[in-house]
Amino acid sequence: MMRNFISVVTRHWISLVGAIIALVAVVLMLTLVGIQMTGFRGGAYLGILTYMLLPMVFAIGLVLIPVGVMRKRKLDAASAALHEAQAPGLPIIDLNNEHTRGVVLASVVIGLLSLVLLAGATYKGVHEMESVAFCGTVCHTVMEPEHTAFQRSPHSKITCADCHIGAGADWFVKSKISGSWQMISVALNLYPTPVTSPVHDLRPARDTCEQCHWPTKHVGDKLQVKTKFADDETNTESKTVLVMKVGGQQGSASTGIHWHVDRGVEIRYLTDPTRQNVYDIEMTTPAGKKVFKTEAAPEGPTEWRTMDCVDCHNRPAHVFYPADKELNSAMDDGRIDKTLPFIKREGLRVLQEGKYASKEEARAGIAREVEGFYKTSYADVATAKAAQIKAAGDALGDIYSWNVFPKMKVTWGTHKNNLGHSEEAPGCFRCHDKKHTTADGARIGANCKTCHAVLADEEEDPEILKTLRP
Ligand code: HEC
Ligand code: HEC
Ligand code: HEC
Ligand code: HEC
Ligand code: HEC
Repeated sequence: MMRNFISVVTRHWISLVGAIIALVAVVLMLTLVGIQMTGFRGGAYLGILTYMLLPMVFAIGLVLIPVGVMRKRKLDAASAALHEAQAPGLPIIDLNNEHTRGVVLASVVIGLLSLVLLAGATYKGVHEMESVAFCGTVCHTVMEPEHTAFQRSPHSKITCADCHIGAGADWFVKSKISGSWQMISVALNLYPTPVTSPVHDLRPARDTCEQCHWPTKHVGDKLQVKTKFADDETNTESKTVLVMKVGGQQGSASTGIHWHVDRGVEIRYLTDPTRQNVYDIEMTTPAGKKVFKTEAAPEGPTEWRTMDCVDCHNRPAHVFYPADKELNSAMDDGRIDKTLPFIKREGLRVLQEGKYASKEEARAGIAREVEGFYKTSYADVATAKAAQIKAAGDALGDIYSWNVFPKMKVTWGTHKNNLGHSEEAPGCFRCHDKKHTTADGARIGANCKTCHAVLADEEEDPEILKTLRP
């Protein structure tokens, strides 16, 4: 039977080439699977080779086999037609013929085996495409900023697909189609730098975030203690203490910040594509509908957007921090020695003013700058605390490479965080700005106490902490 099959397959060069391609691909595939089963993890590229590229090559080989067989049959038929006036249009499969039986049987067996193999590989390949390694590293340069930030985020143990695709077939297909387009745009260098944000066709939060976070969970008040350092010689340390009124729904109605996503509350707003400017706001609650207006939207593209988790938590997995915040936390947790004179001021200076073409250049340049500062201004410190100065240089290099990506044109403030209000991003103040009013003059609350109690604002030794941490 096998001999018959082989003789049919090898009679035309196209099917012969197809058979060889398929055979080589399958052997390589099985070898790589075997290697990976022994525990070897080659990273995303090995997965793509094993479960996507080789199966494609295998499938191409398989398709070539019948093409060659058909060609051969046509040639045979053509020469037969010279002898007989009527050549049959389609092959006659005569199962009484032992040779034909063998070929048909072998084809069915090999066909079924191939199908199983391809189905398995496709399944594995699709999973591969949803792994963090695939999303974050295959398009390395393009996704590097998001992948880097993701690894430091509270979500570093879930996958990109949990938020960017979610469950269900329709979004799965949608994501594979847009994913294919993205692969092409990466291959042809058509992608925008930086990658466009916000993501306009992001799946609504109710299908993603709310699969893991109970949206009506009552969070209540949340205490926040922030440590800050000033830019004087001693890097004067201070504390800011806030009680965030997060709230959240448990009963029928709630107050607090999470009120915006309560059942029965819908807030729609007119905004420009950056979502940083908010014009008309339409609020629907069980009590009725209110419209808040401010200056009219300017000419140009606008969109109506319904508020969900992502309008405040727009950087749950990709937080790019301002240099000031990064320095405060590095000094607070000891990565940078807070007793080094002027380290806060100098750190900020080298992070924000330095222009570097690559990360390696940045690390070297930053370390050199910091060392240089102490050598010229504090020669005694430069020798006494050489190790601390070196560590500070390294930590500053880390901070830079977590937030600045020259190749993608991502730098301080490129991706704004809407969870709060600051000079870089108005966040809550896009709506809570005392300018949005209803026709009868009602405003959206902008009193500091609407959202939090500020128990201490940059105080060196606040009373409240003596009570909370005696
Ligand atoms: C916790 C949910 C979550 C996870 C996990 C997540 N993302 Fe995102 N991502 C978001 C949200 C939300 C936005 C949209 C921000 C916006 O529209 O303002 C976003 C935006 C992006 C953007 C657009 C550029 C930008 O920074 O806004 C890219 C690219 C991206 N994500 C890639 C990834 C990659 C790669 C991974 C995995 C390594 C990943 N994401 C994991 C929630 C997530
Ligand atoms: C697959 C499950 C999953 C999905 C989907 C998910 N999260 Fe999370 N989220 C987590 C886990 C796990 C944590 C970490 C909890 C912890 O650190 O205690 C977390 C933490 C958080 C936190 C607390 C952050 C902090 O600083 O402590 C916020 C806010 C949050 N998620 C918002 C979101 C938003 C917004 C989305 C949708 C864009 C989302 N999450 C999607 C699982 C998920
Ligand atoms: C798209 C516009 C918009 C954004 C952005 C926005 N809010 Fe609101 N918020 C509203 C509207 C509208 C109301 C209802 C005002 C009213 O009841 O008159 C409101 C009400 C509130 C309330 C009062 C809820 C209650 O107890 O009745 C709090 C607290 C609040 N917002 C906090 C925040 C915080 C914190 C942020 C930023 C993280 C934020 N909001 C961002 C539109 C917005
Ligand atoms: C109006 C803005 C806004 C919206 C909308 C919003 N959040 Fe929040 N959320 C906040 C703020 C502000 C905090 C407090 C952040 C802090 O102090 O760290 C918070 C805190 C949280 C936390 C941390 C709670 C904890 O125990 O530490 C989680 C988880 C969270 N939000 C998830 C969600 C999810 C899921 C949604 C959508 C269903 C959502 N949020 C919608 C503003 C918002
Ligand atoms: C619409 C809600 C809202 C209003 C109104 C509001 N804030 Fe805030 N504020 C926030 C949120 C959200 C944060 C971010 C908390 C975090 O970092 O998790 C914040 C953060 C802060 C911080 C800490 C910033 C930092 O990280 O150092 C200070 C200080 C502060 N607010 C002061 C004020 C003062 C003063 C007012 C009145 C003029 C005010 N806020 C009005 C929502 C609000």
